[in-house]
Amino acid sequence: MAILFDAEKKIFKLDTAGSSYIFKIYDENYLVHLYYGAKIPDYELPDFECRHMYASFSASNAHLLTKDFSADVFPFEIGCNGCGDMRISSLQIRNADGNAATDMRYVSHKIYPGKPALPGLPALYANTDDDCATLEVLTEDKVTGAQATLLYTAFEKHAAITRSVVIRNASDKPFEIEKAMSFNLDLPDADYDLLTLYGRHNMERLLEKRPLAHGRQGIGSRRGSSSHQQNPFMALLRRGANEDHGDAYGFNLVYSCNYVAEVEVDFNNSSRVMMGIDDSDFGWTLAPGEEFWSPEAVLVYSNEGLGGMSRTFHRLYNNNLVRGEWKRKQRPLLINNWEGTYFDFDDDKLVAIAKWAKETGLDMFVMDDGWFGVRNDDRRSLGDWVVNENKLKGGIAPLVKRVKELGLRFGIWYEPEMISPDSDIYRAHPDWCIHVPNRDRSQGRWQCVMDMTRADVRDYLFNIMSEVLAHNDIDYLKWDFNRNITEAGSALLPPERQKGFFHRYILGTYDLFDRITKAYPHLLVEGCSGGGGRYDPGILYYTPQIWCSDNTDALSRIDIQFGTSLCYPASVQGAHVSASRRTGYNTKKDVAMWGTFGYELDPAKISDEDRAVIKTQIEGYHKYYDLIHYGDLYRLICPWDDPYKAAWEFVSEDKSEFMFTVVTKFYMEAQNFFIKMKGLDPAKRYVCEETGKVFSGALLMNAGLSLYHYPNGDGESFALHFKAE
Ligand code: GLA
Repeated sequence: MAILFDAEKKIFKLDTAGSSYIFKIYDENYLVHLYYGAKIPDYELPDFECRHMYASFSASNAHLLTKDFSADVFPFEIGCNGCGDMRISSLQIRNADGNAATDMRYVSHKIYPGKPALPGLPALYANTDDDCATLEVLTEDKVTGAQATLLYTAFEKHAAITRSVVIRNASDKPFEIEKAMSFNLDLPDADYDLLTLYGRHNMERLLEKRPLAHGRQGIGSRRGSSSHQQNPFMALLRRGANEDHGDAYGFNLVYSCNYVAEVEVDFNNSSRVMMGIDDSDFGWTLAPGEEFWSPEAVLVYSNEGLGGMSRTFHRLYNNNLVRGEWKRKQRPLLINNWEGTYFDFDDDKLVAIAKWAKETGLDMFVMDDGWFGVRNDDRRSLGDWVVNENKLKGGIAPLVKRVKELGLRFGIWYEPEMISPDSDIYRAHPDWCIHVPNRDRSQGRWQCVMDMTRADVRDYLFNIMSEVLAHNDIDYLKWDFNRNITEAGSALLPPERQKGFFHRYILGTYDLFDRITKAYPHLLVEGCSGGGGRYDPGILYYTPQIWCSDNTDALSRIDIQFGTSLCYPASVQGAHVSASRRTGYNTKKDVAMWGTFGYELDPAKISDEDRAVIKTQIEGYHKYYDLIHYGDLYRLICPWDDPYKAAWEFVSEDKSEFMFTVVTKFYMEAQNFFIKMKGLDPAKRYVCEETGKVFSGALLMNAGLSLYHYPNGDGESFALHFKAE
């Protein structure tokens, strides 16, 4: 098993294919971290806990004054508030006496194969018991009776560990959790760059890099979703490491609501890393006997730089996060009417698009926003999920029938968590909308947000969605979420529970996701939030793909997709060819192929010539589906290194096949341009499908190919495919 405990030395060791994570039970039952990094055979790491025995001014456990111990400098598995550790805490509990001193010490542990589910929360899972092993360490604060169980799961085949915390009130008085991070990692130095993914609507997940500095640094969201602005991902890259070499640690939170991800570098140059629910507007009262489960964080280590880290995330998410019938099944290539019609459509117009799609070779038609209530613009009707029969005559069934008769699958758009003030449901239930007493209800896109903490709201949504989903042969659902949450409060929660509103909100949303996906297991659900505003592993647990961005311009998409690829695989990346702005259809196709692929345009505006091109693109996508979705990604030329060109490569797991794509964003006069492949078998000989030429893997990786004769004008691209002889 991947997890060992040496009872004599009191040391835990979690080994995966490429990493080791080691900690021990120290005197007075402190849980002290020893090592996390490249795999090592060693068990004991002498004096690794004593980073600096003395910290002037720091006060610490009086029983250990004669030892080399300081709670302010020792590396811990859990960073407790108020008892000597002055760094940012990962756990803070305000106990019944009113103080927030928290001090957790080891009590017991168990190790077992597999992985437990997290009640009500999305989480990675084991396919079989030998996928992973779990360590549960029970800790307790003897004074308050608060218990924290630290959960560690080591995924042996992938260099990945998941972590979360369960807090239990084992006392006879209630207390309040003020902060409960999903993990605490104390690294011994600070010689790293911090990488994060920032952005906004239409330009999500752009890479940002900064050197770690003394003090606190980090990212987070307070928007009621994981957000466009900062993805719940960060990486630490050893200075001097790069795309292919050196230490890279990746951290990703399996959560879709307010969060923080922080690193504090202390006076000793140690780095404390943590991620979890945002604590600035959080509190959770725990009655005696009650439990609180934190969301889960994923920790990946690679000594093959950022590329190695990303490939580990990709394999892990394809195997142990994405679930259900669509997990490894080829997803239908779709056409969506949004950019083609916006709200201006009726059944005949939609059928005309579907007919065009079928004749062009696509698999599914998706009806986007505007099919319900009186939604002829975005100012009304969210929540009134009843078909608009002025647009769809006779209801939805005749439209589904007509689309199915063409031989296509049928998909539909919902934004379940939203409510328009101008809707019948709002007029009937104004309390169902998130609000606080006596304050205006802020609107975004003329809409408010449903109070998902309420069971009656969730029942209403499940039932009204079922009116459509249960009675029609629907294959796909696009689940949108188009604004941030303000005036956060629920009419049903008592004052002392309002502090947990955001977390309760997302638990309610997860519950609805769970009910819909369980009731309609064949549905392919695609997550969406004004493009990629809720692009996180929490959503991926319910929806095997997420619409990456509303920006479908191929050149902008390159930056978005490179950033996204830091931890999310191609198989989950919603990417479409649209009629939008720059570049020809070849580049649009080459870029959208790095994802689920599909089209989003008005066929009436497509020339016969472009249509013929689109037909060949669709055939190509089917052919390379597995290579793209489940192959290993190598970023060859990254937009953060080169403003002119971008290039990427997919290599099949057995290295018998690969393809690479080059896009020239801006033409650059007279440059030598050789491109070297990565990740091939040097001994294999690869035949290029397009040219028939044969090269060894060694040549392709070391000498590279000259691309002198390939398209390199502004916005031009090409892709080449190779198979081993
Ligand atoms: C969001 C989505 C779009 C589209 C519109 C419909 O912006 O990201 O793809 O579905 O909503 O209103």
